[in-house]
Amino acid sequence: MKVDVLLGLQWGDEGKGKVVDVLTPRYDVVARFQGGPNAGHTLEFEGKKYVLRSIPSGIFQHGQINIIGNGVVLDPVLFRQEAEELERSGVDLRSILRISKKAHLITPTHRLLDAANEKAKGGKKIGTTGKGIGPTYTDKISRNGLRLGDTFVNFPEKYGPLRQLHLDRLATLGATPEPELLADLEKTWMDAIEYIKTYEIVDSEHLVNNLLREGKSILCEGAQGTLLDIDFGSYPFVTSSNTITSGACSGLGVAPNKIGDVFGIFKAYCTRVGSGPFPTELFDETGKTIRDLGHEYGAVTGRERRCGWIDLVALRYAIMINGVTQLIMMKSDVLDGFDEIKACVAYKVDGKETTDFPYSIEENVEPIYVTLPGWKTDMTKMQSEDEFPAEFKAYVDFLEKELETPIAVVSIGPDRSQTIVRAKAKLK
Ligand code: GDP
Ligand code: IMO
Ligand code: MG
Repeated sequence: MKVDVLLGLQWGDEGKGKVVDVLTPRYDVVARFQGGPNAGHTLEFEGKKYVLRSIPSGIFQHGQINIIGNGVVLDPVLFRQEAEELERSGVDLRSILRISKKAHLITPTHRLLDAANEKAKGGKKIGTTGKGIGPTYTDKISRNGLRLGDTFVNFPEKYGPLRQLHLDRLATLGATPEPELLADLEKTWMDAIEYIKTYEIVDSEHLVNNLLREGKSILCEGAQGTLLDIDFGSYPFVTSSNTITSGACSGLGVAPNKIGDVFGIFKAYCTRVGSGPFPTELFDETGKTIRDLGHEYGAVTGRERRCGWIDLVALRYAIMINGVTQLIMMKSDVLDGFDEIKACVAYKVDGKETTDFPYSIEENVEPIYVTLPGWKTDMTKMQSEDEFPAEFKAYVDFLEKELETPIAVVSIGPDRSQTIVRAKAKLK
């Protein structure tokens, strides 16, 4: 059996959580492979709304195993909050969740370092989510990190040197924490580690490969998006992990030849939260209208999301890097009332037209747009693609042609039920 991957093609918040939940009944297992509580994945069904951060979005269906892979960074305190809330709302998390021993731990000082690093960058700050993601992955790569598996034996001896390293670094940044504050944070953190240890902590690479051998199907859930990838995103305004398909290989221990379908998710427009370049960003009333209609405010931080037109240059690049086999278009309903819709089909870079995503997308990039007629129809209650208005069909056809990839699913509202699987979709 192969592993399918579902991931974001833009700057995150494409609607990954919603679609993972919708696709979960077709799979035996759902697994997160990177990122951490910087993610905010929203699910809506039966009049309820949930925001998941570290826990996979496959927990609400029919008892599928959900795995937090080795590529994820975990904050025990935030994990505990998330898990306890889910348990209170009736999810039997313990029976379905498995957590990798190799997942790295976010410490209280990682969060302090994240804040101090951002402060030190001043006007050049990344606009991180403040969850300690960068410092935790930094320690992982520089071989100083702590893994969940380390908490079982002599943990204080392992924690001490890392703590000291962080305090030294914080001191050079002029951000030494008050001892009482740090002691409080550490107490809550240590308690939360004991709480996590009551879950099944496993060698998830063995679990995943055993499940595959048994013929079980697995859906991997990406966090963030391709344009936030540490290698291929708009560096340095990116997150600190590989958000792309290959991240599923290293973040779960899945061999590349085991990857099956890659579902690439994008919004019918584009958003970004935090700093960094965004060629199609709109600073006018249209941008504000998209933000209002799409409720474009961060699920984790509540920050306003920057809004703009869809960028097909960036999407083509993301499709190439990820090997996307099928596309999923989200939030087209947000454009339901628009007279006209624009799509960026090429860039002018230093005066020269190109359709290749360039090294840098700073001010030297000018988007070239085509304008398409809007469909001016409320699509939010539609049940099948047969009901799609002609202009919407034309928009979908245009995107498929430009992106050379089929659009398998169209999402027309935040609810689980507002999802149209097209006849051409090849789903499990
Ligand atoms: P994720 O991080 O990729 O899971 O996405 P987020 O949950 O951060 O952001 C997506 C937002 O759009 C959430 O508030 C969803 O409830 C909402 N949403 C998802 N799909 C649709 C859709 O098709 N239409 C509308 N209007 N909202 C949607
Ligand atoms: P989901 O999974 C949107 C952004 C931050 C910042 C940059 C680095 O919900 O799509 P970090 O805290 O990771 O060091 O921040 O990445 N960012 C996201 N933007 N959706 C996310 O996750 C994000 N996770 C991080 O805003 O610009
Ligand atoms: Mg999100």
